[in-house]
Amino acid sequence: MSPPLLAETLAETTRAEPRGTPVVEPGINRQYLDADPERWKGVFEREGRELFDRRHEIIDALQLTPGDSVADVGAGTGLFTMLLAERVGRAGRVYAVDISPTFIEAIQARAAASGLDNLVPIVNSQQTVSLPANSVDLVFIADTYHHFEYPQQMLDSIRKALRPTGRLALIDFRRLPGFSSGWIMRHVRAGQGQVIDELEAAGFTLVATVSGCKTNGFKFYRQ
Ligand SMILES: C[S@@+](CC[C@H](N)C(=O)[O-])C[C@H]1O[C@@H](n2cnc3c(N)ncnc32)[C@H](O)[C@@H]1O
Repeated sequence: MSPPLLAETLAETTRAEPRGTPVVEPGINRQYLDADPERWKGVFEREGRELFDRRHEIIDALQLTPGDSVADVGAGTGLFTMLLAERVGRAGRVYAVDISPTFIEAIQARAAASGLDNLVPIVNSQQTVSLPANSVDLVFIADTYHHFEYPQQMLDSIRKALRPTGRLALIDFRRLPGFSSGWIMRHVRAGQGQVIDELEAAGFTLVATVSGCKTNGFKFYRQ
């Protein structure tokens, strides 16, 4: 059985991965822009994918309150969007943000079928999250940071969208030589140390690490 997810106060003094100039993958998102949501639902929402298997624990670890306003950036087929919308309730709001128009259309249809009326769909560009300024308590980014082709621009716009007490929750593949699979080493451009550096350069501070996931790292940041 997997260990429970546990929020820990930050006590990291060492970072295993080398740091360096970010290398952002051009065209990494080509496959999503006109994607078939049903096909990708089978990829994102399947048993054996850690984020799917642990989805409820991940949502619990976010410690949301009914009425919160949340953005699911890189919403994909809506795996987390739907759970977030249920968690914040009718008084809350979830922005489903993705660069893929077909994914966002599918999420809208899914929300309508589930009777969820607290969801705001946004098709954004690669450079900006397209959220109103000062609008969200939490930005949630799952398995998407390594897909940002313009991470600094995205992070700048995310900072503007966050309320002063807002949090950024980032969950993404660990990229550790000797630990991560060959596919992850090729597909994911940066290890944890570099990602922390990029977030800090954009004005965020790492405040907590959530342990318990194996192939993914899960961290909270504040401005
Ligand atoms: C691997 S999928 C993850 C989907 C979802 N978060 C999940 O875990 O099931 C990455 C998603 O990020 C989206 N994406 C990539 N770059 C983005 C950006 N700059 N802003 C918003 N979405 C982006 C892609 O279109 C894709 O839907």
